[in-house]
Amino acid sequence: MKFLYIIFIFWTIVNCDEHTHIYKDGEQVVLWMNTVGPYHNRQETYAYFSLPFCIGTKVTIGHYHETLSEALQGVELEFSGLDITFKDNVPAQQFCAIELNEQSYKALVYAVKNHYWYQMYIDDLPIWGIVGEVDGDQYYIWTHKKFDIGYNGKRIVEVNLTAENKERLTPDAKIPFTYEVNWKKSNINFEDRFDKYLDPNFFQHRIHWFSIFNSFMMVIFLVGLVSMILMRTLRKDYARYSKDDDLDDLEKDLGDEYGWKQVHGDVFRPVPHLACFSALVGAGYQLTVVTLAVIIFTIFGELYTERGSLLSTAIFIYAATSPINGYFGGSLYARMGGKLWIKQMLLSAFLLPVLVCGTAFFINFIAMYYHASRAIPFGSMIAVMSICTFVILPLTLVGTVLGRNLAGQPDYPCRINAVPRPIPEKKWFMEPFIIIIMGGILPFGSIFIEMYFIFTSFWAYKIYYVYGFMLLVFLILMIVTVCVTIVCTYFLLNAEDYRWQWTSFLSAGSTALYVYLYSFYYFIFKTKMYGLFQTTFYFGYMALFSLALGIICGTVGYLGTSIFVRKIYSTVKID
Ligand SMILES: *[C@@H]1O[C@H](CO)[C@@H](O)[C@H](O)[C@H]1NC(C)=O
Repeated sequence: MKFLYIIFIFWTIVNCDEHTHIYKDGEQVVLWMNTVGPYHNRQETYAYFSLPFCIGTKVTIGHYHETLSEALQGVELEFSGLDITFKDNVPAQQFCAIELNEQSYKALVYAVKNHYWYQMYIDDLPIWGIVGEVDGDQYYIWTHKKFDIGYNGKRIVEVNLTAENKERLTPDAKIPFTYEVNWKKSNINFEDRFDKYLDPNFFQHRIHWFSIFNSFMMVIFLVGLVSMILMRTLRKDYARYSKDDDLDDLEKDLGDEYGWKQVHGDVFRPVPHLACFSALVGAGYQLTVVTLAVIIFTIFGELYTERGSLLSTAIFIYAATSPINGYFGGSLYARMGGKLWIKQMLLSAFLLPVLVCGTAFFINFIAMYYHASRAIPFGSMIAVMSICTFVILPLTLVGTVLGRNLAGQPDYPCRINAVPRPIPEKKWFMEPFIIIIMGGILPFGSIFIEMYFIFTSFWAYKIYYVYGFMLLVFLILMIVTVCVTIVCTYFLLNAEDYRWQWTSFLSAGSTALYVYLYSFYYFIFKTKMYGLFQTTFYFGYMALFSLALGIICGTVGYLGTSIFVRKIYSTVKID
C-alpha cells in the first residue's frame, strides 16, 4: 500500500495528465466540484459539499484518481451530478433542491456573510463562483449556474460561469438549484486556454524590470564595494605581513598584533552545535537545488496550468535530491571532526520534513477545532511518512556515506591551535548579534518587490506565472547575500572574533527575518483575513516559507564566505 503511493507519485510526474482533453460529440463532460472557502484567503478551503449543497441526478461516474499533491493542497474533487455532454446545449432546468433546516441555514448564512467562493473544474479549467450576497441584513444565495463553454475542434478552450437568480435564505426555505449549458465555437487555441487566468495587468512587466534593475544596481554597487574594500585591505595586510625586510622588528610586531591574521589558529575551529549546523547547511544545499530546479522546470513546463503538478514536482525533486543533503551535511560534519554521524544524518534527513509536517499538523489541528472542517486525509499522511522513511532516508544515507568518505578529511590551510584564543573586547556594532541583524537588510531590499507578487498569488486569486523574473530575482538575491556576508565576516574577523561560521550563516539567513516582518505588514495592509484560524494559517505557513528562505540564504552565504575565508588564509604564510 505504502509503496503503491510512492509509485503513484512517480507515475503522476511522468504522466501528469490523465485526460487527453479530446472529446467526441455527445461525450460526457464532467463538472467536478472542488472546494469552497472565504474569498480573502484562497488557501483556506473546505470540501464543496461541506456546505449543504445538493448533488445532481446523474449517477456518479467512474473512479477519480486523486494525486498526493492534490490531497495535500486540499483538492477534493467530487462529481457534481450535472449532466453535461460535449456540444449539447442544456436549457435551464432544475437539478436538485435543498430544504433548509436550522443547521444548514446557519451554515449557508455563515458562508454568504464571509464571502465564500466555490471552485469547480471542467476539463481541468478552474471555474470560480460566489455562493451568495448580503443585502442589508438579508442573505441571498445564487441558485442558477449558467455555463458558457467555448470549444475549438474537439477540445474545450473556455468556460464562463454566470451566477443568476438569487433566493433569500430563510430558516425553512426550499431552494431549487438550476443550471444551463451553452456551447459556443471559440477561436482560442487549446495551448492558450490558460491565458485568461493570468493577469498581466497585475504582474506588470514594467514593475518587475524596475525591481530587477534596482536590485541589479545594488549588486553592482555591492560587488564593487566588496572588491574595493577587500582589495585595498588585503593588499595592505599582505604588504604589511610580507615586507619583513623593510620593517624593523618592533613595527612588525605591532603590525602583527591586530587584524584577521591573528585568529588563523582559530578560524577553522569546529563550530559549536556541530550536528545542527551541518544539518542546516546540508538542508540548505538541497533546498537551493530544489528551488532552482522547480523554477526552471516551471519556466519550461508551464506547470502552473496543471492542477497540483507544481507541488508534485517539488516533492519529487526534493526526495530525489536527498543525497545532496547527505553529502554536504555529512562531509561538513566529518571535516569538523563530528563523531555521531548517524545522529547528524537523521537530523539532516528529517529536519525539513518534520518542520513542514509539524506546522501542517498544528494548523490542521486548529482547523479541526475551530471549524468542523476536513483534515488532511490519513492516506496522504501515510504517503508523506513513507516517502520520508523509504525514499528520503535511504538516499540521505547514501549521500552521507559518500560525503564522509570522499570529502570528509579536514584540509584546512591553517593548523588549529590547541587552546582557543580569547575574543577581545570590541565595539558594540562588531558583536555577532548586531552583524547578524544588519546582514539581512540589503538582501531583503533586493527581493521585497517580488515578495509582494509571490505573496499575492499565494493568498489571493492570482496565478503566478512570471517565473523567469523569479529566477532572476533568486539569482540576484544569492549574489547580494554572498557579498554582504563576506563583508560582514571580514569585519568580524578583523575584530579578531573567529566565530564566523554561525555568524555568516545567520547574517545571511536573517533576510528571512525581514521577510517574515514584511509578511506582518502584508497581513495588516494587503489582506482582509480575520479570525484565529486564518491568522494561524497565514502566519504558520509564512513562518515555514521564511524559514526555508532563511536556510537557503544562510547556506549560500556560508558557502561564499567559507570560500573567501579559505582563500585569504591560504595565501598568508604562517610561521
Ligand atoms: C466568456 O466571457 C468573455 C468575456 O466576457 C467573452 O469574451 C467570451 O466570449 C465568453 N465565452 C463564451 C464561451 O461565452
